[in-house]
Amino acid sequence: MIRVLFVCLGNICRSPLAEGIFQRLIEHNNLMDSILCDSCGTSNYHIGGQPDPRTKENAILNGVPLNHKARQFTVDDFNDFDYIIPMDSDNYNDIMSFPEAKFSNSVIKLMRAYDSEGKGEDVPDPYFGGSQGFQNVYTILDRSCNVLLQELIS
Ligand code: 4NP
Repeated sequence: MIRVLFVCLGNICRSPLAEGIFQRLIEHNNLMDSILCDSCGTSNYHIGGQPDPRTKENAILNGVPLNHKARQFTVDDFNDFDYIIPMDSDNYNDIMSFPEAKFSNSVIKLMRAYDSEGKGEDVPDPYFGGSQGFQNVYTILDRSCNVLLQELIS
């Protein structure tokens, strides 16, 4: 089983949408027995909370089922996941600041390392903006998730 974890700050906007998009891809490709995914946040701001209402609205608009309650990243995730995919460089640096990161066998790589456009950039945080920001995030995540899946199955 290949285990993939998407990480953002609050785990209510970007990473739950990434998880929903990737889960949809897993199911469309009938890979449920070989790949699983989850998401979490580096912060404790929204633990136990549902995705942001704007994330939910965007997910419905794009036909992405969301089924996630926010949780915080823990050092166990270094063992529990093969791929740890932070949305931006702050999330990346926060993960890498755990001493356990040095001993981890996980691939820890930015989401947009897999983006065919804007490679290596941040997935912009849509929290303080309007709904257009959420659609922009969806477009970036959809593109990146497709490339990530291709890498996992090739
Ligand atoms: P996310 O967005 O990291 O994509 O879930 C945010 C959610 C909440 C906050 C910031 C970003 N916040 O400051 O509460």
